[in-house]
Amino acid sequence: MKTERANIAVFISGSGSNLQALIDNSKSGKLSGDIVLVISNKSKAFGLKRAQDAQIDTFVFKKKNYNSESEASEDLLKKLTERNIDYIATAGYLQLLPVNVVQEYKNRIVNIHPALLPKFGGKGMYGKHVHEAVLEAGETESGPTVHLVDEIYDNGQILEQIKIPVSGNDTPETLAERVLEQEHILFSLALDKLIKGKYEITHG
Ligand code: GRF
Repeated sequence: MKTERANIAVFISGSGSNLQALIDNSKSGKLSGDIVLVISNKSKAFGLKRAQDAQIDTFVFKKKNYNSESEASEDLLKKLTERNIDYIATAGYLQLLPVNVVQEYKNRIVNIHPALLPKFGGKGMYGKHVHEAVLEAGETESGPTVHLVDEIYDNGQILEQIKIPVSGNDTPETLAERVLEQEHILFSLALDKLIKGKYEITHG
């Protein structure tokens, strides 16, 4: 798997600008994998349109459409295995992945978070809430983190971070914009290194 192109599934809930960066970097060769499936828990997520524009298969995964949680998670894992997915990237996906998926893809799932973990992570820390908390804490630096995914929000091994200065004039919006620019670079870089086996996995 280390020298071949990997099959990647991307999970989203919203705009999908990170998804777009992964698609673009895959096409340009900066990411040695192909985005072959995009999964969203929201049928109206703009990221689904980005996927369709790039001729990538999409799947709307809503647990409430199934009789039970286990039926839902089994169907999701079936979709991933049917498409020969090697790696998963969660890019603004606002739910926890089912445990069976986390276990099957152990050390092959990456998430991007818009702050310097382990600070400013955990349940409820997403989107604007993260940047508000960073500013309220008076941090002088922020930036994205790419980490491996386990069963707990924002808890897996940290793979990469980029630090950028926080200015006294920053609002949650201006900070989010500058962090997002770096996210678009960092996510592909980290996923490419993971695919190439360049990380020493030290947690579990
Ligand atoms: C990003 O800030 C990412 O770090 C966080 O959710 C946001 C998703 O943005 N997990 P987009 O949908 O990729 O534009």
